Amino acid sequence: MNRHVLAISDLSDEEIEEIFRQAEELELALEQRSVPRLADGSIMATLFYEPSTRTRLSFEAAMWRLGGSVISAAEMQSSSAAKGETLADTAKVVSSYADLLVLRHIWDGAARIAAEHSDVPVINAGDGSHEHPTQTLCDLYTLRRSKGTLAGLTVAIGGDLKRGRTVHSLVRALARFKVNIVIVPARGMELPEWFLRRIAEDYGYQPTIARPDDLRALARDVHALYLAPAKPHQLTLFTDTEFDLEGRLREAEPITLDALYMTRPQRERGDDAVEENTDYLRVDADTFQDPAMRHTLLMHPLPRTGEISSALDRDPRSVYFRQAANGVPVRMALVNFLLSQRARSAPAQPSRPRPIAPLTGARCANPNCITRREDVTSERRFRVHREPSGGAHLVCVYCDHETPLEVIGNRKSKHYNVFAEPMHGYLENWLRGDTLVIFDSVKQAEEAGFRPYKLGPQKAIMTAEEIAASIDELTEAMLQEITELNELVIVGVKTAGAFIARRMADRIQAARGATVDVGVVDVHGGREGVQRWGAANDEPPLQVDGRLVVLVDDVINSGWTAKDALSIVWRAGRPRAARLAVLIDRGHRQLPIKPTYVGKHLPTAPHERVRVRLRELDKQHRDTVVIYSYVDPKVAA
Ligand code: NCD
Repeated sequence: MNRHVLAISDLSDEEIEEIFRQAEELELALEQRSVPRLADGSIMATLFYEPSTRTRLSFEAAMWRLGGSVISAAEMQSSSAAKGETLADTAKVVSSYADLLVLRHIWDGAARIAAEHSDVPVINAGDGSHEHPTQTLCDLYTLRRSKGTLAGLTVAIGGDLKRGRTVHSLVRALARFKVNIVIVPARGMELPEWFLRRIAEDYGYQPTIARPDDLRALARDVHALYLAPAKPHQLTLFTDTEFDLEGRLREAEPITLDALYMTRPQRERGDDAVEENTDYLRVDADTFQDPAMRHTLLMHPLPRTGEISSALDRDPRSVYFRQAANGVPVRMALVNFLLSQRARSAPAQPSRPRPIAPLTGARCANPNCITRREDVTSERRFRVHREPSGGAHLVCVYCDHETPLEVIGNRKSKHYNVFAEPMHGYLENWLRGDTLVIFDSVKQAEEAGFRPYKLGPQKAIMTAEEIAASIDELTEAMLQEITELNELVIVGVKTAGAFIARRMADRIQAARGATVDVGVVDVHGGREGVQRWGAANDEPPLQVDGRLVVLVDDVINSGWTAKDALSIVWRAGRPRAARLAVLIDRGHRQLPIKPTYVGKHLPTAPHERVRVRLRELDKQHRDTVVIYSYVDPKVAA
């Protein structure tokens, strides 16, 4: 059984100790040029789907220094990935050439997919915004070598805490080693809520939140950073509204800042909303002049992009170059640890005893999660996590993000229900019985052939004639604004939306004698891109570049389906404009999406279900729209 290091939690405290102990020995051996050939005859493969200088070169140097050798596909863009090979296949193949795989990837959770398919240990050298465990080893090692200990230290972490993977691994590790953490995010780049909740649950710890100004104040007029109460590892949470420096000074005991860990804005990870940020903490000689910071180490995983002035480079408190240099002995020790584990064929890593949801229709809510890009063969995509409030959510085992639990079903009875607190018993039972299925939406459940657990009375709210009139009106409203019919593509969301799109195009044909392109998108997986209506499987997708796309769906509610459909369109090309037409708008939006053309506004309650039945889908019936309400199985019983 292979040991992988995908997240910092994959190594126990004792193992980290052991790695550090050996790294110290190796550091000395490097100085004395007497490094034992611990990896003699072994090969490391480095696969980097993203730029890297320090991480890749220090891994490779570490392997060479240990007497091993390295094969590398640094430019993944020019290798098989460019031809569309999956990461799973690449990992499988490359692992047959090497004894160890080091992977850096743009998508969160990529390292776990690689590990599932690799025959040799995988080390995560950074996966999207998720984790970067070996950087954390270098950080901890440097911190401890300088301070002699970890427990009880206070470390402030500044910059882009939302997208910085080094921060995500580091905060987890610091919380574990009982370091007091002060987070100083730039506006819009805060640690995600779910991340803070998880830290609180896993380590019973809540980092202190400070503002960049608090640290600046430190340099100007306060002589220590005061945080209350100074109970080790149990600092009070300061939010902006609670901020009261005077009060803090009166009440609190002073705490010195042992280190300030800065990070750069992760621009390549997108998010235009946070780009122009004047709030970003920048450290210069001034900041570090305060006597209170006499012993404050200045750390950075590098590369820096202006967060730390080069004027501080010669300052003995600046340890960022040492962090980078320590990459070699620390990674040597880690490589040796994994290779010797492998030789000893250590037992499987202990996994946390949490209920596991079998493979389901649900998708991770994180758009950057590898599971949204690549099929996953593993059954263990999610853990179910019960919230104290009574709700529940899924935790993605690949990227750690939370996904709300919307609709659950039973594989055997083929019934589904919208998840609510009284259903916990069912959830647990279905989990145990391995019959649980999870859906993104009621619509997805119904399209998979599941029926509501118990229906309330159904009420028809639109007749066939009303539906036809409504589709005609939608089409007319659209034509009012669109004159260049050859530029238009009507794209239906599979399944009902696609039939409505078809009917709209037919109406244009009948009324104007013009043929309009009709496309279909499938938001529940299936083929990528916009397929031409009725196209054979090998036909190329429809071109949307520079065209006017009108996306069509039967019902809009939360807006998630429309958003997913739009993302598919945007991935397929760059349309000149995209609009949305729906037969029914129910309200209840969770996303800021507003359809341009609406057939009927229908205010509904969340527990109600609106179902559009079309003759194309159900030959026995005429077109109709019905509304009904769920009845909870417990209440029904
Ligand atoms: C970090 C990374 O790649 O996540 N760099 C590194 O490994 N030394 C930090 C960063 O790129 O900002």
